[in-house]
Amino acid sequence: MKVTFRLLPFFQLLAAIVLAGFLCMPSVVEAKQKLLSGIHGQKSVMPKSCRACHRGMTMALSGEESTCLTCHGSDSARQEMEQKGYLRLIGQVELRDIEVELRKPYNHPALAVRGVHRKFETLPEELVNAARHSECVDCHDSHAVEKNVPFRGLKGKRVGNFITEVTEEYELCYRCHAESANLPGRSTNKHEEFKTTNPSFHPVEGEGKNTFVISLKEPYVAQKQSPNDISTISCGDCHGSDDPDGPKGPHGSNNPGLLVLNYEMEDGRSESSQAYALCYECHERSSLLANESFPYHALHIQGRIGGQDGTSCFTCHDAHGSTQYQHLIRFNQEIVSENLDGRLEYEAQGYSARHGACFLSCHSVEHGVVEELLPTDGDPAPADSGGLLPPLDGGSLLSPSPSLDLGGGLQPIDDTVQRVDGVY
Ligand code: HEC
Ligand code: HEC
Ligand code: HEC
Ligand code: HEC
Ligand code: HEC
Ligand code: HEC
Ligand code: HEC
Repeated sequence: MKVTFRLLPFFQLLAAIVLAGFLCMPSVVEAKQKLLSGIHGQKSVMPKSCRACHRGMTMALSGEESTCLTCHGSDSARQEMEQKGYLRLIGQVELRDIEVELRKPYNHPALAVRGVHRKFETLPEELVNAARHSECVDCHDSHAVEKNVPFRGLKGKRVGNFITEVTEEYELCYRCHAESANLPGRSTNKHEEFKTTNPSFHPVEGEGKNTFVISLKEPYVAQKQSPNDISTISCGDCHGSDDPDGPKGPHGSNNPGLLVLNYEMEDGRSESSQAYALCYECHERSSLLANESFPYHALHIQGRIGGQDGTSCFTCHDAHGSTQYQHLIRFNQEIVSENLDGRLEYEAQGYSARHGACFLSCHSVEHGVVEELLPTDGDPAPADSGGLLPPLDGGSLLSPSPSLDLGGGLQPIDDTVQRVDGVY
């Protein structure tokens, strides 16, 4: 029994090769070349062709990473492959250690998950209880990978009832992070977040909705006008190795969220270039802290001057997109809750108007409650006058103090609860 079981895959492979050979006359050689069309098919670097991967008892491959790591893992493993003549590193060819990346604390579970990947499986997954996995072969078709087109040959993009070939990086990610029936509880459908019909989104699937994003650093722009402008970004701009010189791709990172740069998501942190390094890579820190767009950015991000009570971008913004609001607004409901009127909402007044209103409760500050305490004798203060908030250096709303000069419409409800009209 055991013998047949082990030999079966071997014969399958043999049969496939022979069959392919006969089907695509005139020669088996041609069929082989067709099957192995990518960079792995280059005899100059992989002289023994198929046998570099299909050999010994692993003739038929399970799709596990060990085959790949003989060349894409440690230096010593690679040297062994060179000595055995499977690999020839000549010219520009340099292979990086992907294994080191996969061993970092935030990673794609290629090493950790075994025996789940199935040959010819269909992704996005359709079974709710299917185990989650991500092997090298789920992201790279080893028979077709091309230099700088690492997902060439993969299928996964859903077009109506058909599943067609992946051409963009995000389509690769959507094989497992969008319509998959087996998404983990805390995860969300990424296509829903990046859809270009959303009120706002980071420009991955297409250019963004906001035509004037004042904090953007060169070469990033809202809309492409000259050849050097970059108006769309990729998942890989944010997700990937924390080592700028490391191999490209979302294999692993020391930063939470498998992010290329640090991003604090907790409340009550002090602001620094490191804390929100990810965002400051493309958005000018000084522009944000000078309140060039949202007039209360500094107040919220930095908290009380010199204090530790600022809040993260994550409290107000979703790094992917917002299905509800403009400007990537999505409130972190672990910190933000309904106001006394039972509202938790954001209202923008157009894409580049830079005016809007918040109705919510946060840090014991009631935003936008409609009640007799608000001024009744006229319109609320014009937004460009700084609204109804106290001056920035007068203290922080994030840590209410009863002695604060609250100004016009800002009234203490009691010692701990304060209120602002929430308009800017
Ligand atoms: C870079 C490594 C690599 C090379 C080189 C390679 N293959 Fe594969 N091959 C794989 C992997 C990995 C799988 C399994 C894919 C999966 O599970 O999704 C596979 C699957 C196959 C299959 C599917 C059937 C089965 O039962 O495994 C056939 C047939 C096959 N390879 C033939 C070939 C032939 C013929 C060549 C040489 C022309 C070749 N391969 C070269 C890595 C390779
Ligand atoms: C025998 C050695 C060997 C094995 C085994 C091997 N590769 Fe490769 N791989 C190479 C070489 C050589 C290149 C070309 C690198 C270059 O030209 O810079 C390459 C290129 C790649 C690339 C493209 C990299 C780029 O520069 O964009 C990917 C992706 C890749 N391999 C994935 C895999 C996967 C997945 C497996 C396992 C199924 C695998 N490889 C097995 C030798 C190997
Ligand atoms: C073959 C399936 C698959 C594909 C394709 C895939 N992923 Fe994943 N990804 C996973 C699995 C499995 C996990 C582990 C957590 C889970 O089950 O969602 C994960 C986790 C992640 C995480 C969270 C890591 C953490 O520590 O919080 C990020 C970020 C991520 N993937 C981004 C991407 C990006 C970007 C792409 C496209 C370049 C991509 N993934 C493609 C399967 C996949
Ligand atoms: C790789 C570059 C890049 C990074 C990193 C980046 N952004 Fe952006 N961001 C952009 C671009 C490009 C736009 C312009 C999109 C548009 O025109 O709507 C943008 C727009 C925005 C907008 C305005 C959207 C709108 O519709 O008004 C917000 C808010 C934003 N980013 C927040 C963030 C936050 C928070 C982070 C960190 C988690 C971040 N960005 C990281 C490139 C980046
Ligand atoms: C502007 C930066 C940025 C871009 C672009 C980006 N992400 Fe993220 N992503 C983040 C941040 C920050 C987090 C952690 C906070 C969170 O969970 O929202 C995250 C979290 C994740 C997670 C883990 C949380 C979950 O819901 O499972 C996955 C998976 C993920 N991103 C996939 C993607 C995919 C796929 C793309 C491209 C289609 C992408 N990201 C593009 C910044 C980005
Ligand atoms: C979740 C998807 C995913 C998994 C799993 C994955 N990769 Fe990748 N890999 C990518 C993406 C995406 C890129 C290309 C990034 C780019 O070009 O910006 C990449 C790039 C690479 C490169 C080229 C690196 C460079 O700097 O040129 C190699 C080699 C590679 N992967 C090999 C592997 C091997 C071997 C495994 C398994 C041990 C693996 N990958 C697992 C998505 C993945
Ligand atoms: C208290 C909520 C809040 C926090 C915290 C916050 N923002 Fe914003 N942000 C907003 C609002 C509201 C807008 C929309 C302003 C408008 O109407 O144009 C905005 C707009 C933006 C824009 C688009 C306009 C521009 O300046 O280019 C960017 C980019 C941005 N925020 C980045 C960030 C980053 C990065 C952080 C963290 C370091 C952050 N925000 C923290 C509420 C917040």
